[in-house]
Amino acid sequence: MLIYIIGTTLLVFGFYIWLRKNDDYWKKKGVNFLAPRLFVGNMGEMILMKKSIGAIVTEFYKNAQGLPYLGIFNMRQPVLLLRDTSVIRNVLVSEFNKFRDNGIELSEEADPILAKNPFFLKGDRWKIVRAQLTPLLTNAKIKAMFPLVQDVCKNMVNYLEREPDANEEHGLEAKELALKFTSDNVASCAFGLEEHSFNDPNAEFRKMAEQFLKPTWFGYISFFITTLFPSLIKMLKIPNSQRHISDKFKEILTKTVKYRKNNNIRRNDYLDSLIELKSKPMPYEYTDDYMVAHAFTFFLDGSETSAIILSFALFEIAADFSIENKLKNEIDEMLIKYNGVITFEAVQEMTYLDAIFSETLRKYPPLMVMTRECTEEAKLVAPDNPGQEFKIEKGCHIYIPVLGMHHDPQYYPDPETFDPDRFTENAKHALPKNCFFGFGDGPRTCLGRRFANMQIKLGIISIVRNFEIRVNYKTKVPVEIATDFFLLGARGGLWLNFYKRKNETTSN
Ligand code: HEM
Repeated sequence: MLIYIIGTTLLVFGFYIWLRKNDDYWKKKGVNFLAPRLFVGNMGEMILMKKSIGAIVTEFYKNAQGLPYLGIFNMRQPVLLLRDTSVIRNVLVSEFNKFRDNGIELSEEADPILAKNPFFLKGDRWKIVRAQLTPLLTNAKIKAMFPLVQDVCKNMVNYLEREPDANEEHGLEAKELALKFTSDNVASCAFGLEEHSFNDPNAEFRKMAEQFLKPTWFGYISFFITTLFPSLIKMLKIPNSQRHISDKFKEILTKTVKYRKNNNIRRNDYLDSLIELKSKPMPYEYTDDYMVAHAFTFFLDGSETSAIILSFALFEIAADFSIENKLKNEIDEMLIKYNGVITFEAVQEMTYLDAIFSETLRKYPPLMVMTRECTEEAKLVAPDNPGQEFKIEKGCHIYIPVLGMHHDPQYYPDPETFDPDRFTENAKHALPKNCFFGFGDGPRTCLGRRFANMQIKLGIISIVRNFEIRVNYKTKVPVEIATDFFLLGARGGLWLNFYKRKNETTSN
């Protein structure tokens, strides 16, 4: 019994010492830092779900004004929070080779599909996969997908016309609406599957997209394990909490590929390109898992983030009649110029729509904090802060406070105001450099930004052309950031009303 008590005491004491071991990490390096609390480090409010990661990191960012960087702790893991724009530029772009990875651990054995998403891949494998996927999302490929998205726009407009809640007291939740739209687009453009999210409440793709990123207890617990013991994820082969969804996706995709092969069907879409990769020489064995993984990347990354931006853009348009009016006028001008049809070229010419798109990405960046891992020792030099050079060690984690910088009045005056005029042709050249990260920056910048740009803009056009939008009384204004989600979300949702314009026939 005594041995048992002594053993347990030693174990608890050893664990305590281990938890505290890194506490003076930043002090020893001579970096300004926030003192960590036991177990949670500086992320206690996020762990207790009182604040989102974006809100906490923004707070640290604001409080460290004047510093080029700040040492913090994610539980016991030291993290360098960057503030200086030229240091950020070096990390993301100029010295990218020393900061190549995103620093997120997944077990490839437990998660064979998700772990092959470029976002999680590391080193040379990331480089190879990125180079293979980039040609599948060029401007020409996106243009070929344009008519498919237009078809989904028609379904969305029809839905808004017949759905009684759209123009009645109850209203519609914009993110739900947008997720129906984006998941149908992805199903159609990437896999040639006609989804019916606007007719069927159980449409498979939308349900999977919705469920995959939903917080779960298992996900919560594995967050602790990943952060405290990153290597355990691989050793114990712990899968992500929604592994069953990637398995389900694999089942659907395998059937689709088989059907195409057996019936000799070619659609010249993303899936065809992935099938074609099989016949090309590869620097690695291109197994079926790779094909499914690349498709899953499009599915996962293509729906959620775009739905966030589309829903916030609709909310801001609904909240300001002058913005809505100006945009409607721009749409009307294009309709006159292009004989009543919104073409790919017409969308490229819409500068005010583009400004709304950029301002939405500024005010509501879905990825509120970007991460990097130092993969080779490097010197961080901040020209505006002479004498504050710092040698960063291999393995050190980095946070880039996207939300904080996008809301910093030093870069964007009156940052809480939604003002598309910041991004009009003349104004955007005067914007400060290296403080806009809606799609990230450098070689790891968002792979799907062209597709996102096209589907979101078409979604906005089809709605504003056909409906006047108003904010429903259920929306909390000013918007509060949801605390249970790692991407940016609105607490309580964005509820809107859609009133059919009198002089418009149904059109995309
Ligand atoms: C408005 C919608 C979107 C936003 C705001 C967004 C934002 C981002 C951001 C901030 C990153 C990290 C970039 C970095 O670390 O420098 C990223 C990475 C990525 N995005 Fe997107 N994204 C969007 C849509 C899409 C779409 C539609 C796809 C796919 C079709 C996609 C695929 C990816 C991939 C694969 C990566 C990882 C790139 C890499 O690490 O090499 N994204 N995205």
